[in-house]
Amino acid sequence: MSTTTADALRDEVRRRYAESADAVTRGEANPGCGSGSCCGDAESADFGEALYEAEQRGELPKTAVLASLGCGNPTAVADLREGDTVLDLGSGGGIDVILSAKRIGPTGLAYGLDMTDEMLALAQRNAAEAGIRNAIFLKGVIEAVPLPPESVDVVISNCVINLSVDKPAVLLEIGRVLRPGGRIGISDVVAEDRLASDERAERGSFVGCIAGALSQSEYVEGLAAAGFEDVSVTFTHEVADGMHGAIVKATKPARSRGNRSEEQRAELPLVQRSGCC
Ligand SMILES: C[S@@+](CC[C@H](N)C(=O)[O-])C[C@H]1O[C@@H](n2cnc3c(N)ncnc32)[C@H](O)[C@@H]1O
Repeated sequence: MSTTTADALRDEVRRRYAESADAVTRGEANPGCGSGSCCGDAESADFGEALYEAEQRGELPKTAVLASLGCGNPTAVADLREGDTVLDLGSGGGIDVILSAKRIGPTGLAYGLDMTDEMLALAQRNAAEAGIRNAIFLKGVIEAVPLPPESVDVVISNCVINLSVDKPAVLLEIGRVLRPGGRIGISDVVAEDRLASDERAERGSFVGCIAGALSQSEYVEGLAAAGFEDVSVTFTHEVADGMHGAIVKATKPARSRGNRSEEQRAELPLVQRSGCC
């Protein structure tokens, strides 16, 4: 993908999710499910708040629930433990940061990372309303995480990696910030291997979390090439023909093989270069 195309796509994603955050802030119901956002191109039961247990929704501020634009519930699959440091890539309105912060308790720390100012402001308000004191929201991109190496126990993410314009960079960054033995619990849209990039783009837009999705094999191979083990990508529900909400799990080896260099990054077999538009 050319730099100009990548920059334009990222700007479009930022603009779209800023609108979503503004709409929630204005009190509009389920605004994220307008066309052109995650859940805009699909049934509302496939994305957002419907994927959380009623009990979990009940312990959250209304605007955190309304702003939910994910395609799964990573806090339900990530093995979060008391005292863990957790990083949520693309934290949006903060729903998974708040749930993680409650799970890991006062000795743990939950980071939310997002590039959209409006989402960060909404997440801060939601966390404050939920009485959360062990969460920090950071501004930045998931392709260059503003945290030191080996500083995180668990990386979660909900329907964001498909929106990245440089997925190999994201997978390497996850490997860099995780401590040896650290875990990944990610929800994302993933394509069946039979669908080529242009066929994925026929099924939905890039900002709608469809066109930029990796295939199952691309995810598995990308994580393995970035040094992860025990990699699994499991479909949970179909969101478009051949496209699924999926749970992605992996572990960083307990003995770190070290961070991968730029040259190693070039060797990563991820063929996905968004293929969209
Ligand atoms: C589909 S929403 C999901 C938000 C949240 N994870 C949830 O489940 O509600 C995507 C979020 O990821 C953020 N995002 C997208 N691409 C990003 C990137 N490259 N770096 C940082 N944040 C990004 C957007 O600003 C938006 O808040």
